[in-house]
Formats: sequence, C-alpha cells, structure tokens
Amino acid sequence: MTKLTWLSHGGWMIENESHCILLDPFLTDNPAAVISTDQLPNVDHVLISHGHFDHVADAAAIANTRAATIIAIHEIAEWFSKTKNVRSTIGMNIGGQLELPFGSVKMTPALHSSQLPDGSYGGEPAGFLLTIDGARLYFGCDTALFSDMKLYADNVDLAVLPIGDVFTMGIEDSVTATKLINAKKVLPAHYDTWPPIAQDANHWADRIRTETKAEPVVLQVGESIEI
Ligand code: NI
Ligand code: MN
Repeated sequence: MTKLTWLSHGGWMIENESHCILLDPFLTDNPAAVISTDQLPNVDHVLISHGHFDHVADAAAIANTRAATIIAIHEIAEWFSKTKNVRSTIGMNIGGQLELPFGSVKMTPALHSSQLPDGSYGGEPAGFLLTIDGARLYFGCDTALFSDMKLYADNVDLAVLPIGDVFTMGIEDSVTATKLINAKKVLPAHYDTWPPIAQDANHWADRIRTETKAEPVVLQVGESIEI
C-alpha cells in the first residue's frame, strides 16, 4: 500500500511500508502549510523538480537532518552538494530512469523555467514518473500543457497536475492534459498558496468529472490518498 499526502503547493509525501519520499517539500515560509519540517517522519529520498524557491527552499535542511538523498537534475543535485553541503545527492537528467530501493524514478520534461534562488543555472525543469509497488504515478510538477506528456505518462494510475495558472497551467489546460494522458485518477496541485494562484478546486473537479474519464481527487492540505 502506498500513501500519498499533499503537503500543500507542489509538495507531496509518498510513503509505503519501508520508505518515505518527498517531492518538492515547501513548508517554511509557506502560508498554506500545516506542518513544519521537523514534524516530518524519517524521509529517505527527496525529489526536486526544478530550482525555484517554492520547490528547493526546505530540501537541504530536511535532507541533512535525516540523511536523506536528494534526487534532481544534475545541475541542481550539484548545487545542493556544493552550496548547501547536502551529503547525499543523485543527479539525473530528462528522459533518464533510475532504479532505487523504493521503485523507479523517471525524469520527464516540464515546460517551465528553473533558475536557482542565488541565480545559479538550474538546468531544465522536470516532472517525475514514479513506479512504486506496481503503481505508476505521474507528477507534472510546474509545467505548461505540452503534448509529449502523453508519450511519458499515458494511462498512469494517478496524475498530479498544477491548476494554479499564472506560473503553471491552469484549470482549462489541466483538463486537456488529463484527457491527453488518460489518467485513472487526477489530483490538483500548485494552487491556493497565495492569492495570485487561488482556484476553485471543486469547479476543477466538476470539469474533470464531466469532460474526462478520470476520477478527480481533491485533497485538503495534509490529507492523503491510498493507492
Ligand atoms: Ni516554478
Ligand atoms: Mn512553483
């Protein structure tokens, strides 16, 4: 059994019997967060999609206090190691797949930007396709709509797509993306953190229900879904 918990914004916690993986944890300085970094359990891997502060801000502290491994595109993995003294990092790149103790991680493209907070080059932004306990989970992360999503994430068991608009795709394009990839379940992310990305998630869910074959799952911050 795999449990997926929304940490708010683009942040997720994925747990099974033996592993706890975070994706883009953003808790400190996040008005929507309901837990702090020291309330997190014993994390073993932290996935980072791109270099923006709302995705990298808490990762080094979390990784260093728990001896967790940060997995990111090569440039960001190196930045964590060199500038944040993160002891364990794994760099990868778009299109590559890694076999890890909890399952496999494939780094997928994302249509976005990726400068690190200190101005360093963060490589290309990414999404992730995870295979854990036989389930395929696609995290679009911060991205616009693009048709190659279908090549990477067709028929996934669960997809997480941004709906906040302004910095990522909004509701309209996430409905199109959901149709494109035929996800069985789809969850919204990257909204309601701040006023510019406020969205009506129930309106989004109604549109997913009526216009696609996917089941929309709207979680409150801190809530989980079992996969
Ligand atoms: Ni971003
Ligand atoms: Mn973001």
